[in-house]
Amino acid sequence: MAATRKPLLSLLSRVSRTSKRTYGVLAEGSSSSSSSSSNHLINLEYEYSAHNYHPVPVVFSEAKGSIIWDPEGKKYLDFLSAYSAVNQGHCHPKIIKAFQEQAERLTLSSRAFYNDRFPVFAERLTSMFGYEMVLPMNTGAEGVETALKLARKWGYEKKKIPKNEAIIVSCCGCFHGRTLAVISMSCDNEATRGFGPLLPGHIKVDFGDAVALEKIFKEHGDRIAGFLFEPIQGEAGVIIPPKGYLKAVRDLCSKYNVLMIADEIQSGLARSGKMLACDWEGVRPDVVILGKALGGGVIPVSAVLADKDVMLCIRPGEHGSTFGGNPLASAVAIASLNVIQEEKLAERSAHLGEELLCQLVKIKEEFPNYVKEVRGRGLFTAVEFNSKSFFPVSAYDICLKMKERGVLAKPTHDTIVRLTPPLCMSRDEVKEGSKVLHDVLELDLPNMQKAKPKDSPTTATICDRCGRNLYDPSDRAL
Ligand SMILES: Cc1ncc(COP(=O)(O)O)c(C=O)c1O
Repeated sequence: MAATRKPLLSLLSRVSRTSKRTYGVLAEGSSSSSSSSSNHLINLEYEYSAHNYHPVPVVFSEAKGSIIWDPEGKKYLDFLSAYSAVNQGHCHPKIIKAFQEQAERLTLSSRAFYNDRFPVFAERLTSMFGYEMVLPMNTGAEGVETALKLARKWGYEKKKIPKNEAIIVSCCGCFHGRTLAVISMSCDNEATRGFGPLLPGHIKVDFGDAVALEKIFKEHGDRIAGFLFEPIQGEAGVIIPPKGYLKAVRDLCSKYNVLMIADEIQSGLARSGKMLACDWEGVRPDVVILGKALGGGVIPVSAVLADKDVMLCIRPGEHGSTFGGNPLASAVAIASLNVIQEEKLAERSAHLGEELLCQLVKIKEEFPNYVKEVRGRGLFTAVEFNSKSFFPVSAYDICLKMKERGVLAKPTHDTIVRLTPPLCMSRDEVKEGSKVLHDVLELDLPNMQKAKPKDSPTTATICDRCGRNLYDPSDRAL
């Protein structure tokens, strides 16, 4: 009976939904007629937007540099930088000026025609990073997809991999975005469960383990087109590989004729204290993917960099994007790169990051039971809590308390808080951020532990693929 009723019910609900269409006429209770308080906006989003995020409950209404105001005028310090998309700081005047000037002149040509901004951007970006060519896209995930397609194409054309047998090797704990090809490499159960079948043609290797990588290259080398990796794993919790790893990866990729593909979408553009995180070991990948801060926190801009022998494997009609390389994005990206260079953001990140790390080390020393590890490179830092002594409190709870004290950070997994402020942040603001974390651990945590029910979910993240707790350092290869 239920089986026959269900389609009818779902049909009815579809009918009633279509009858509510308003096509531009504001629906009852829509924003024009109601308050713009934080609570109202949060409820509105919950009601009308897909629940694909679990945000810290704060509404951004205005922002400048490293400061954010909510609709009630409460001020916060940004310690996330939109996952490193606002390395230059919110609403940087030079980037906004470039955006406004370009927006009034020309926004889109599509690549069916030329425009007078993209070639200038292409020359600027390639000469800045020392590559012969760029392929422009929009979001980071699209940049990664592009690099994967490029690697496969190169694999068949140049390396002579048999048809449809190309393999991409990627790392346990990686994060490269949300498209199907990209999640097919993911170790994050939430990102993959219910989205199968995933794409074949992937092999996983522990991040930081050059010996395991060589073993895979030896066994499957003739079919491996590329090794895709983050030089510092961001979403996994700012995981820094052991010294010498990047050089070893470079040597192995050259030895086995595999493209070394660095996803610098989060770690690049000055975040780690160098222009690229690969610069820490002076290595030059065959393919570099940039995104996030390339658009200066204003619009999505991503790019794949490579030399001609790789890039020209893709020919007209074989790949593209309506908005990739649009003049507005190109103008914004040029301004974003200029700001990074003119304001010496890499150097700034390096020395402020050292100071932040020193402050975090002191916090770890003061709370050895709670803090398992602090790590970072430049202003790309994270604090990992000890899940047992912390239980039942999670990193998300810590971020909620930090928010109450005026600092916005985001957890990654249950036990890690990432601290990645805009690179324009002042020394005092950096200190304020670490002080707030300190105060939460000292003043709030004991009460939080008392208040939270003990039957909260476990903090272990067991990988569907390999059965390990990927975010427990004792279970990691490093
Ligand atoms: C390393 C890395 N690659 C790719 C992506 C995906 O970028 P986007 O969200 O713009 O698609 C992210 C996003 O966090 C990232 O950190």
